[in-house]
Amino acid sequence: MTQTEDKTSLSTEDTPLVPIEKVVALCKRRGYVYPNSEIYGGVSGIYDFGPLGVELRNNIRRFWWWSMVQLNDNVLGIEGSIITHPRVWEASGHVENFVDRLVDCKKCKRRFRVDHLPAENLEQNKCPVCGGELTEPRVFNLMMETYIGVVEGERMKTYLRGEACQNIYLDYDNVLKSSRIQIPFGICQIGKAFRNEVTPGNFLFRQREFEQWDLQFFVHPSEMQKWFDYWKEFRFEWYKGIINHKDRLRFRAHGPDELAHYAKQAYDIEYKSIIGWQEWEGIHWRQDWDLSRHSQYSGQDLSYTDPETKERYIPWIVETSGGVDRTFLNLLLDAYEEEPPSGKDKAGRTVLHLHPWLAPIKVAVLPLQKNKEELVTTAKDIHNRLKRLMVAQYDDVANIGRRYRRQDEIGTPFCVTVDFQTLEDQTVTVRERDGMTQIRLAIDELPDYLVEKVTWR
Ligand code: GAP
Repeated sequence: MTQTEDKTSLSTEDTPLVPIEKVVALCKRRGYVYPNSEIYGGVSGIYDFGPLGVELRNNIRRFWWWSMVQLNDNVLGIEGSIITHPRVWEASGHVENFVDRLVDCKKCKRRFRVDHLPAENLEQNKCPVCGGELTEPRVFNLMMETYIGVVEGERMKTYLRGEACQNIYLDYDNVLKSSRIQIPFGICQIGKAFRNEVTPGNFLFRQREFEQWDLQFFVHPSEMQKWFDYWKEFRFEWYKGIINHKDRLRFRAHGPDELAHYAKQAYDIEYKSIIGWQEWEGIHWRQDWDLSRHSQYSGQDLSYTDPETKERYIPWIVETSGGVDRTFLNLLLDAYEEEPPSGKDKAGRTVLHLHPWLAPIKVAVLPLQKNKEELVTTAKDIHNRLKRLMVAQYDDVANIGRRYRRQDEIGTPFCVTVDFQTLEDQTVTVRERDGMTQIRLAIDELPDYLVEKVTWR
């Protein structure tokens, strides 16, 4: 199995943490993320993704799939549905256990999750904002309900999936029987999940509709520790490979009181941003919880028979469960920088140091002037060649300095400028985003040069 290569170009030194509002503003201004239903006042915890956002999400998803499914011979992929039989959520324990405990402040009426309250406020039963008295905790289930069927009285209540991974347990036996895979093996999926989060917030960090990626790795119980350690390290290195500030990544073990109902052991991979150290992905020791429960609730035997030893057992499961949205947010927080004026850029600039593999637009092609027909024609020809290979943008609006800054702000790693020398010797300027260095390259060499820089392999 191959680990991702670390090709990021920035130093790991700590720089100031970026206020989330700056990233929110850039996302709206440049077309990464919009509030959902904005013209109706919006819906808390739900967002839409604009032209750049959808490219970044696609790149993030594809890169995860490539490194988890394509590179690992013992991992297969599925895509399950959002709606399942309601019994699934009884078996999974979500109907009973997927709850938040909440308290309200009697004075200022603010609402808090009990597990988010500072210990002293909890002990003294005091609101952390105004000092008012708190109510007794009340329990809220996070599952989003929906109904299947059209005839009133015959409609079946079910749920939008609260965690995407349940489809993997439901399809586990089908995958086993329809492929020639044997234990140890994994099943991956990327898909939407829905939670009635009581306190959505911090932009994409805690939403009500979001997208998860999961690996469920099925093992013999005697090999559980080995594979748990293996995937824990694998996933940590994966995240390290796509961020600039490596020192903002760490593991945190869950204490016994915070373990999810399905986990015997868990580690979070955490990223440090302006909102503190927060979970990015969870590595869970799910043991035989899921397959045992689904066997019990469905009446189907989900045990595995080893083809050589004939031993029969319920496989144990290592889960690595992260999110497209948190990855999106953390990548932007990690990449955002406001650089003061310098010798290289007298005006100063805002730049997104996104990994070239993940940046939404890989190259911008810019004619030096838009009123010189030969420059425009050559630039459009180059753009037409490049856009077949990667996401490329043609831009001739405003002076060249402003166009560079616009591309820096959206994270485009390369700009190709067609100038008067191009018309004489068929070479162009290639400007690199992070160091603002420029090289001269023959037009015919451009495609290979750029593909090498922006494609993972
Ligand atoms: N199947 C295990 C599971 O769902 P989780 O820790 O609740 O575990 C896994 O979620 C990942 O899903 C988190 O690490 C996070 O990246 C993402 N996630 C969970 N809740 C989220 C939310 N409300 N908004 C955005 N992402 C969320």
